[in-house]
Amino acid sequence: MLRADGAQDLGLHGLRGAGVLLLRGRVAETTGMVRPVVRIDVDLVEMRHPCRLGCRRKREQEMAVLFVTEGLTVRSSEPSDMAALLSVYKQCEDFLSLGPVPTASMEMIVADIDHSTAAKGLFCVIENMEGETVGVLDFWPRAAPHVAVLSLLMISRGYRKKGYGRAIVNALESYLQAKHEVRTIAAGVQVNNPDAIRFWRSCGFQIGAAARLHEDGTTVHEMRKTIKPAM
Ligand SMILES: CC(C)(COP(=O)(O)OP(=O)(O)OC[C@H]1O[C@@H](n2cnc3c(N)ncnc32)[C@H](O)[C@@H]1OP(=O)(O)O)[C@@H](O)C(=O)NCCC(=O)NCCS
Repeated sequence: MLRADGAQDLGLHGLRGAGVLLLRGRVAETTGMVRPVVRIDVDLVEMRHPCRLGCRRKREQEMAVLFVTEGLTVRSSEPSDMAALLSVYKQCEDFLSLGPVPTASMEMIVADIDHSTAAKGLFCVIENMEGETVGVLDFWPRAAPHVAVLSLLMISRGYRKKGYGRAIVNALESYLQAKHEVRTIAAGVQVNNPDAIRFWRSCGFQIGAAARLHEDGTTVHEMRKTIKPAM
């Protein structure tokens, strides 16, 4: 748009993570017949945030990323993830049905997040490259000195057996070792979930102490993996 002072609005230019720059300037010179070359003297630069909230949310999400592996991003969950989390939980009702409450609900997710928070855990979403939430990971990095607990790993039904679970466990091990000096990871696995026991075994976990009956009626093996110190 040409303004009365001869200056021209030159459009909006995206600035990753920081909003948008509105450049305003004066067309100072035009040369060439076929492809005119336009030199622009920018005399005013102004910050605008047309998507103030969206930008802030994106920045916060970027900050909350714990690790990225094989196209999967693991980041802390936020209130805005609740609908996507519910969808993952619903996709995992085959797993939930092995426990005391077979049906996914918001209340269940809130209770899981509260439980994680009380244990100083990190309740995370797992996103693929398309930005779809494909799973949930909850872990407690400092459950005991040098010991982390992997409290929950669920991959949505449609995304299983693609190597996602293994990739997440491998990357989590590196993360815990580097950031929290963890040497042992423990995971509780219900005795009536032989598929999961096979999965953890294939990831290098071994059944530890005898299975224990929990208050919620489930009987759980503790599976453990010792992480080799980095060379
Ligand atoms: C268990 C779970 C996390 C595995 O994730 P995944 O992405 O499907 O697993 P991967 O594709 O990375 O498979 C890794 C290995 O486990 C094996 N595996 C995975 N699911 C399996 C199953 N249902 N039966 C047998 N083996 C299985 C794979 O064959 C693979 O072994 P391989 O590399 O030697 O072939 C996923 O199936 C899931 O979310 N299940 C429901 C929730 C659950 O049970 N969570 C564990 C609670 S403790």
